[in-house]
Amino acid sequence: MRIRPARRVRGEVARVPGDKSVSHRAGLLAALAAGRTRISNFSTSADCAATLRCLAGLGVGVRREGDTVEVSGAGRGPGAWALREPSGPLDCGNSGTTMRLLAGLLAAQPFASTLVGDESLSRRPMRRVVGPLELMGARLSTVDGHAPLKVEGRAPLDAIEYEMEVASAQVKSCVLLAGLGAEGRTSVREPAGATRDHTERMLRWLGVPLEVGHVAGEGGAGRVSVTVEGRTGFEARDIEVPGDISSAAFLVAAAALLPGSELSVGGVGLNPTRAEVLRTLQSLGADVRVEAEGERSNEPVGRVVVRGREGLKPEAAGANVLSGPRVAQLIDELPMLAVVGTRVEGGLEIRDAAELRVKESDRIRAVVSNLRAMGARVEELEDGLRVEGPQRLRGARLDAFGDHRIAMAFAVAALAARGETEIVGAEECVGVSFPEFFPLLASVVER
Ligand code: S3P
Repeated sequence: MRIRPARRVRGEVARVPGDKSVSHRAGLLAALAAGRTRISNFSTSADCAATLRCLAGLGVGVRREGDTVEVSGAGRGPGAWALREPSGPLDCGNSGTTMRLLAGLLAAQPFASTLVGDESLSRRPMRRVVGPLELMGARLSTVDGHAPLKVEGRAPLDAIEYEMEVASAQVKSCVLLAGLGAEGRTSVREPAGATRDHTERMLRWLGVPLEVGHVAGEGGAGRVSVTVEGRTGFEARDIEVPGDISSAAFLVAAAALLPGSELSVGGVGLNPTRAEVLRTLQSLGADVRVEAEGERSNEPVGRVVVRGREGLKPEAAGANVLSGPRVAQLIDELPMLAVVGTRVEGGLEIRDAAELRVKESDRIRAVVSNLRAMGARVEELEDGLRVEGPQRLRGARLDAFGDHRIAMAFAVAALAARGETEIVGAEECVGVSFPEFFPLLASVVER
């Protein structure tokens, strides 16, 4: 993919494709519900297609027409969900969410299943879900902590009170899904702050009893604990998926970096555990405004309006450091924010983000390597990076590292750079979350 610098970004994007995190959960919970669910604005990502494919492999009826998906839920059988034992390995593709959430659901089934993934997914840590699921009585095996992940389920599982070691919505959701098939009440407590709460919101939408407790913590960062009741069946209810804020964020960033830009994106999911990226852009000096538009299936949505500025001035001292509990809420946007950091007065430091090293690629290494190739002064840290600013990037030959978010973050960098950029492998991987990215970007870019 070759990208020339842009003068500005202008236009109105009526809506972005459905949120990937919400779509995974919609598919999985619809598969457990009794009856038929119509999911609208389902994510167009390859990741969510992998979830649907795995569900079909478990005997769930899935019909898809464009971004509308109809799922015929299995409902609860005598001791477990009425899913069918799969006849072969379930292929999660590149999707960590598919593998970790499905593992939770399958742990409560009286059969064995094997979850496999592509090369990148097979390098990502799975012990974080093996630990709690084994405490609940399932048996799991991995290859040195990695996929293939074999899950020998047990129905019912034992309920547990689980203290999470890493701030991960995938681990939290995995344990909650397992908890629905356990005997008694299962609680999960997050380390600090709150990771994305789409599972909790969707369970509420479906009428599943759920308790959320806030435990006061040090430094103002409260801890969240979530409890579900075991052996809970529920009825199907249609789900409307909000637009993906993590996808919209790349368009918003492009507009924020190019003076004279004016971009408006509608139907964006504004769940507070995801919208930290907008607050962060504002605190770095970007002109980003939000207009509420209502709710979709228990998730707030709205319009994001952004105007480009020449150079960004942080609102307050300290805004140049992203660290602490909020990092978990920014995790998918950090590569893009590092790019934005090159235009910020005083630069940007990202800390407490070691999780970036175990995403679809080692995102700290990938960002540092691409920024350096563009001539940037940047320092790699064990748990993040430090980028100087303001500095001007120059076009270069970059690597997508097989990672959709790296490809898109550097497409944004390329628009604001001097000279042409080539991103090797970009087209092949953006479909993992946002297949429409390049055409949509081209439709709002002015040269
Ligand atoms: C996700 C949670 C996050 C995020 C991923 C999607 C989810 O991962 O990075 O893109 O849908 O629950 P972790 O929970 O591992 O932090």
